[in-house]
Amino acid sequence: MLVLGIETTCDETAASVVEDGNKILSNIIFSQVHLHKKFGGVFPELASRSHIDKILPVIEDALKTAKVSLDEIDVIAVANRPGLVGSLLIGLNTAKALSFALDKPFIGINHIEAHLYAAMMGDDKKPVFPSLGVVISGGHTMLLKISDIGKYEILGTTIDDAIGESFDKVAKILDLSYPGGPEVEKLAKQGDSSKYQFKAGRVDKNPFDFSFSGLKTKVLYTVKGQKSKKDYPTIIKEEDKKHIAASFQKCAFEDLIKKAIGASEKHNLKSIYFGGGVTCNKALKEMFQNKNLNLDLFWPKKDLSLDNAAMIAGLGYHRYKKVLKSDKLDILAEPTISSF
Ligand code: KG4
Ligand code: ZN
Repeated sequence: MLVLGIETTCDETAASVVEDGNKILSNIIFSQVHLHKKFGGVFPELASRSHIDKILPVIEDALKTAKVSLDEIDVIAVANRPGLVGSLLIGLNTAKALSFALDKPFIGINHIEAHLYAAMMGDDKKPVFPSLGVVISGGHTMLLKISDIGKYEILGTTIDDAIGESFDKVAKILDLSYPGGPEVEKLAKQGDSSKYQFKAGRVDKNPFDFSFSGLKTKVLYTVKGQKSKKDYPTIIKEEDKKHIAASFQKCAFEDLIKKAIGASEKHNLKSIYFGGGVTCNKALKEMFQNKNLNLDLFWPKKDLSLDNAAMIAGLGYHRYKKVLKSDKLDILAEPTISSF
């Protein structure tokens, strides 16, 4: 079965053709990072406009690279939740138009679920369940029990900032450019992570929930002074910034690792599937590996960590196989999701 995947939830316009949920025939990603850099974050109106310009060329490129025509596509899968509503609408309406014009089924996909599925792609090995899902991206931080593809229980989530968002905010405080995650990682490599004592938040009502907002504020007060605001001048020496980056990164990841291990133990889960942009971070992988856990760790392969449409097409295959019918043409773009 050939699935055309479409992804426009935030600031990447992406399209991909995937065969039988696993064989990636093309994975085209147009990143808008250059458009948003000067704003230090995603500017939603610019994002939607750029999606309008790029969506058709990106789909054409995905088909051409896969060497298939639109007629040969069996199903169209599109991320319709969660995300920026203006951005979501461009991908969703394109998918609906293609579905209507070609008389082919289309399926709306949960972008967060697709991030988890990304770590199951590209191997011939069948995924092992039940396992822990760890979604760490710019918009989400989540621990889930995965009983099967499509069957999840949320074990923990963030009560304020997402982990990737906290990297982006700390990068801004340290005068690094957007997106901040890779910049913080680069700077942290040169720093001493024991120089500053930071603490991630503990959430009393659920030990597997996260809170990164207090950690970010502590970094702000350390860099710009107690009770400072983000536009205040820096009071630390330039050479201390690398130690701040290293100490912050270690603190955020230790918190994540501790909670992931705790959730795996409590629910007797033997493997972890990771998804989302923060999985690009090599220090995180090393920290997990160095724990010598009795857990199989599955990380998304290259080009499947950050937002992409291959994960949307791959998951679309499984969703379609289960329901064997198209979603209705009136399904909505959903900026947030209340459940899985
Ligand atoms: O999954 P993604 O592309 O978009 C969302 O669905 O949010 O993730 C983007 C996030 C950004 O916050 C970015 O700073 C973070 O992933 N990120 C990283 C790294 N590379 C990307 N965070 C830490 N270290 C990295 N190397
Ligand atoms: Zn994402």
